[in-house]
Amino acid sequence: MAKLKTAYVCSSCGNQSAKWLGKCPQCGEWNTFNEEVTGNSQQSHIPGIASVAPTLLHEIAPLDKERIVLKDSELNRVLGDGLVPGSVILFTGEPGIGKSTLMLQIALQFPGKKVLYVSGEESPQQIKSRADRLKKANENIYILPETNVEAIIEHIQKTDPDLLIIDSIQTLQSSKLDSAPGTISQIRECANDITLVAKRKSIPTFLIGHITKDGQIAGPKVLEHMVDVVLAFEGDRNHIYRIIRSSKNRFGPSNEMGIYQMEENGLKVVENPSSILLSHNEENLSGIAISASMEGIRPLLIETQALVSTAAYGTPQRSATGFDTKRLNMLLAVLEKRCGFKIQLKDVFLNITGGIKPEDTGIDLSIVAAILSSGIDIAIPSTYCFAGEIGLSGEIRAVRSVAARIKEAEKMGFTTIFLSKYNDEDSLKGKKIKIVRLAKAQDLVTHLFR
Ligand code: TYD
Ligand code: MG
Repeated sequence: MAKLKTAYVCSSCGNQSAKWLGKCPQCGEWNTFNEEVTGNSQQSHIPGIASVAPTLLHEIAPLDKERIVLKDSELNRVLGDGLVPGSVILFTGEPGIGKSTLMLQIALQFPGKKVLYVSGEESPQQIKSRADRLKKANENIYILPETNVEAIIEHIQKTDPDLLIIDSIQTLQSSKLDSAPGTISQIRECANDITLVAKRKSIPTFLIGHITKDGQIAGPKVLEHMVDVVLAFEGDRNHIYRIIRSSKNRFGPSNEMGIYQMEENGLKVVENPSSILLSHNEENLSGIAISASMEGIRPLLIETQALVSTAAYGTPQRSATGFDTKRLNMLLAVLEKRCGFKIQLKDVFLNITGGIKPEDTGIDLSIVAAILSSGIDIAIPSTYCFAGEIGLSGEIRAVRSVAARIKEAEKMGFTTIFLSKYNDEDSLKGKKIKIVRLAKAQDLVTHLFR
C-alpha cells in the first residue's frame, strides 16, 4: 500500500518539520513533535466502502428501536439501555484489570449473532483457554490474530460481523504510515479507519485502549472525540471489585457506572452494590462513617474510613485511597479553621472501602464525620449515614437526588441520615428515616459527639 505523506507537527504551535525534533525551534516547547498525515485526507482510501448519500431527517429511524440488548445488565445500563448499532465504544483500563475478559464475555453471550474478535495481544489459543474458563459458548465467534488495519478491514468486509471487538487499538498498525504501532499517528489513523467502517456498515464496535500510569488514555485525546462512547474500567487489581464508568456517551447518560466482581470464571454483575461496600462495623470502631452517595443515577452507600494519629515525623502525612488528596487537605483546613479541630500536627489517612473512587462531592460530609470520629475517638453509630458537600467556609451544601439517597439508606436499614439544611424540605417529608439537617460542619460535632 502506498505510504501517506507525513510530517512532524508541533502540538503546541503547529510548526511543521520533515524530521522529528526534541525541541520546537518556533515556540521552544520540548517533546511536542508528533507525526501527522499531511495533504489529502485518508477518508476515501478504504476500498469497497461506498460513500453515503444524504437522508431526509424525518426518514431517519429512531435509535432506540434498534438497540441491541446485551445479557450483561450493568453494561446495558451504562450504555443507556443497550448497544447502538454502528456505535464505536472506547473501553479503557489499566493492564490486567479485566478488559479482555469482559469483552470476551460480551462476545460469548452476544444474542445469537456473529462476532469478530481481533486480537493483537493474545494468541487464538490463549483466547480459547480463557473462553473455556468463562464456561460460556457461542459458536459464532471468529478470532483474528492480526494487527494490520488494512487486513482487518478486509476481514470485516468478508465476515460481516454483528459485533466487532479490537483488542487493542494500540497494537494496530496502518501500512500508510512508517511509524511503529502505539504511536499517536498510528492510533489516530487506525481508529479513524475502523470507525469509518463501523459506521458505514453499522457494526457496533468496541476498541480496547490502554491507559498510561497517570491514568491518561495512551494515545491522542482526539481518540476520545472520534468515538461515541468512552468507558473506563477501574478498580484495584488486588480487590475483586471492578467498576465500569462512562465519561462520554452520545446515546445515553454519561457518568453512569456499573459494578462487577472478578471471580474464578469471569466477571459477575453485582446486584446490590451497597451491601458489598459496607463492612458492618460490628465492633463500633471510631473513624468509620457511611456516605449515602450517588454514582451517576444510582444511589450507593459507601464506607469512608479515617485514621487520625499524632505525627510520628516532623511533617504530618496526609494520604488518601480512592479520594483526591487535595480535597482531603481542603477538608482538613476547614476542620482546623472553622471547627477549631486541631489537626495540623496529626497524620491523617483516609480510605474508601471496596477500592472504588467515588465522584460524588456529597461524600464530603461522611469524610469529615469519619475524621472527627477518629480524632475524638468516639464511634459513630453504625445506623447513621451522611450526604453533603462541604464549602470553604464550612457550610454544608445541598446534594442532588436526595430522595433516591434516602430510599437506598432506608432499604439498607439506616435509621438516621445527616443532610444539609439547604436541601429542599418538601422532598424530605413523610420519610421513615430520621433526618438531621445541618448548616455548618461544626454542627456535626454537636450532634455526634456531645
Ligand atoms: P484481562 O482480561 O487479561 O485484563 P486486561 O485485558 O485488562 O489486561 O484480565 C486478567 C486478569 O483477570 C488476570 O489477572 C486473571 C483474572 N481473571 C480472573 O480472575 N478470572 C477469570 O475468569 C479470568 C478470565 C481472568
Ligand atoms: Mg487484554
